Amino acid sequence: MRFDTLIRGGTVVTATDTYLSDVGIVGEKISVIGLNLPVEGAGKVIEARGMLVMPGGIDVHTHLDMPFGGTTSADDFESGTVAAAYGGTTTLIDFAIQYKGQALRHAFDTWMKKADGKAVIDYSFHCIITDIAGAQLDEMKAFVREGVPTFKLFMAYPGVFMLDDASIFKAMGVAADCGGMICMHAENGGAIDVIVQRALAEGKRAPKYHALTRPVTAEAEATSRAIALAEMAGTPVYIVHLSCNEALEKVREARDRGLRVYAETCPQYLYLSLENMDGPGFDGAKYVFTPPLREKWHQEKLWQGLAKDDLQVVSTDHCPFCMKEQKELGKDDFTKIPNGGPGIEHRVSLVYSGGVHGGKFSPNRFVQLVSTAPAKLFGLYPRKGTVAVGSDADLIVFDADEEQTISVKTHHMRVDYSMFEGTQVKGVPQTVLSRGRVIVEGGKFVGKVGAGEFLKRENPAKV
Ligand code: URP
Ligand code: ZN
Ligand code: ZN
Repeated sequence: MRFDTLIRGGTVVTATDTYLSDVGIVGEKISVIGLNLPVEGAGKVIEARGMLVMPGGIDVHTHLDMPFGGTTSADDFESGTVAAAYGGTTTLIDFAIQYKGQALRHAFDTWMKKADGKAVIDYSFHCIITDIAGAQLDEMKAFVREGVPTFKLFMAYPGVFMLDDASIFKAMGVAADCGGMICMHAENGGAIDVIVQRALAEGKRAPKYHALTRPVTAEAEATSRAIALAEMAGTPVYIVHLSCNEALEKVREARDRGLRVYAETCPQYLYLSLENMDGPGFDGAKYVFTPPLREKWHQEKLWQGLAKDDLQVVSTDHCPFCMKEQKELGKDDFTKIPNGGPGIEHRVSLVYSGGVHGGKFSPNRFVQLVSTAPAKLFGLYPRKGTVAVGSDADLIVFDADEEQTISVKTHHMRVDYSMFEGTQVKGVPQTVLSRGRVIVEGGKFVGKVGAGEFLKRENPAKV
């Protein structure tokens, strides 16, 4: 038995088990898991004594190279996936946006071109649907057959992305018929727009008003409506970037009734709060994203939701805009600040640090939240999302005790600030492998630009 790569002496952690073992890799796959595997002839040996060996992170919500708010998100598929790799994420699912009047196929082809030859880790796309007046509902069926089974719809951003309830219900009906799933941006866009216009008329223009004009009730109402529409249509629904306890309660209630309702939250809602928007001058623009930051007490409720499986996934909603020349577009008017924040690099460490070291949940639950549940829900399991014979060798060798301070000075995202500047995390990936190739080692990116492959996905499974 000869391995291309042998990871020796680590503690393998999956969503269900923790045990000491070597992991032998042949080609792109995990070929043997067991004790005392032969070192002779191994192409490369990675000593993992004292380290955790876990499946690579899967980030199911990113926006690379995305036009938005009169500019384009600052990371493309090269810089964004390199930053993801540094942080232990080995698969991401981005969004191909269908603009009004366009075919879904056009959106998909456009985003495939953006990623091709650039991505350093494997990737897939959800399709954002903003208009169903043409043949888009039929296209949805073809997409599910072709490995793109998830669609994001918006209940916010009227006139840009928002769909009315009838259109949402029709799209959900198609998803129900063909085994797809709807990912929902749940905020009541109509009500929010009225509140925003009122604020502007009163001369309230600073970044913090972005948050103050998007109340938790607008998110809770839309979450509840999304769940009701999905229940009537008979489709699973996945609430993206859930930020507050009021929306969480709607998800919990639905899950308690046995509905296939799922939700993710993001590190920004677990670590940051409205107070972060009180910084001097225009500083609050760093935290302008939707849904917005909430009062601090919501954080504890979200951590509890993750621990109790009321929330199933942590993604990033990585959508970076530099302060200079991008966020600055809204210097005199918060509605013109491009919405989004950078997070792709630090999700794994932030969730491990706050979740496991913070005493909220076990390392196994951590793996479930950042890798296994995303893989199952989005049709990538068992190829991705676990450490098992036959799975892709997407692995992280993780030092659970190393401490790191997050800073713009050391991060790899192409953005001129960090949302988590100065935050100390405990738990840092040491070595990262993508389909058997080492891509991060000794603090350096050693992968290959363009080596990431597009992943066709199966239909969403239950978690
Ligand atoms: O502010 C955000 N979240 N920007 C990205 C687009 C979205 O709604 O996910
Ligand atoms: Zn959204
Ligand atoms: Zn998003």
